Amino acid sequence: MNEDIWAGLVEQFADTAYASVKGLVRTYVLHQQLLDHLPPAPASVLDVGGGAGHQSFPLARAGYDVTVLDPSAAMLDKARERLASLPEEARRRVSVLEGDGEHAEEAVSGRRFDAVLCHGVLGYVEPPEPLVEQLCRCTADGGVVSIMTGNARAGAVRPALERRWDDALAAFDARHEVGVLGVPGRADTVEELGALLRAGGVETEQWYGVWLFVDWLEFSGVELDPSDSEQVAATVAVELEAARRDPYRALSRVFHLVGRKVAAAGHAG
Ligand SMILES: C[S@@+](CC[C@H](N)C(=O)[O-])C[C@H]1O[C@@H](n2cnc3c(N)ncnc32)[C@H](O)[C@@H]1O
Repeated sequence: MNEDIWAGLVEQFADTAYASVKGLVRTYVLHQQLLDHLPPAPASVLDVGGGAGHQSFPLARAGYDVTVLDPSAAMLDKARERLASLPEEARRRVSVLEGDGEHAEEAVSGRRFDAVLCHGVLGYVEPPEPLVEQLCRCTADGGVVSIMTGNARAGAVRPALERRWDDALAAFDARHEVGVLGVPGRADTVEELGALLRAGGVETEQWYGVWLFVDWLEFSGVELDPSDSEQVAATVAVELEAARRDPYRALSRVFHLVGRKVAAAGHAG
């Protein structure tokens, strides 16, 4: 991705999408799963394609040292703006770096992190191998890799709920679509991504769904109120359970895979 196509999407993505109930569910569910796998704070976290820091700033609040790496100057400006809302001690734990994930190791000067996150990025890069390889390289032995990306097995959900039946039929076997942000993207399967990670010395530990019911409700035209905190709390509790259980997790249009780097003999970590 050469031009900064994210520059025009900063407000839509960083302010509008994350302020919706679906955005709140996504941040909450991923955060809970991450806390189950991450070593206790303080530990180092690299957020590749971290954008405006929506997923990693809560980790800084929780005591983690966070480095956000992103090629979009506009996204990073937004990240710096949002930093102001963090308490001073959390803000001091966040660094921001400009660069793409395919050159992550160079951008962080060879540093190894206890956790490397890459959420909502892989679907926008083609092919995915160089980025996944860099995620693995930047992870310390025993560290965690956390990837959220499009679920190729649930491609028919969105067009079907939008009653685009011809598109839905074609989507069962499709890998590409223009996503809700209007950006063309590619989807993966848990198994394929697991194989790419294994090539980098990272074994899949667990995988989850992200959101399900709120996604379906949105595509069905239902408006959910993010200011109704009681409803939001009840919603995130249901979505967290759905994200962890079969068959629900497999129907989520995005999946969240958590892997762990194995200290293999002869593996250049
Ligand atoms: C949908 S946003 C996700 C942001 C963030 N990870 C989050 O979960 O909120 C996609 C981000 O990927 C970044 N991006 C695009 N191409 C990238 C690449 N080759 N390497 C790293 N990041 C990239 C964009 O600049 C943008 O900030």
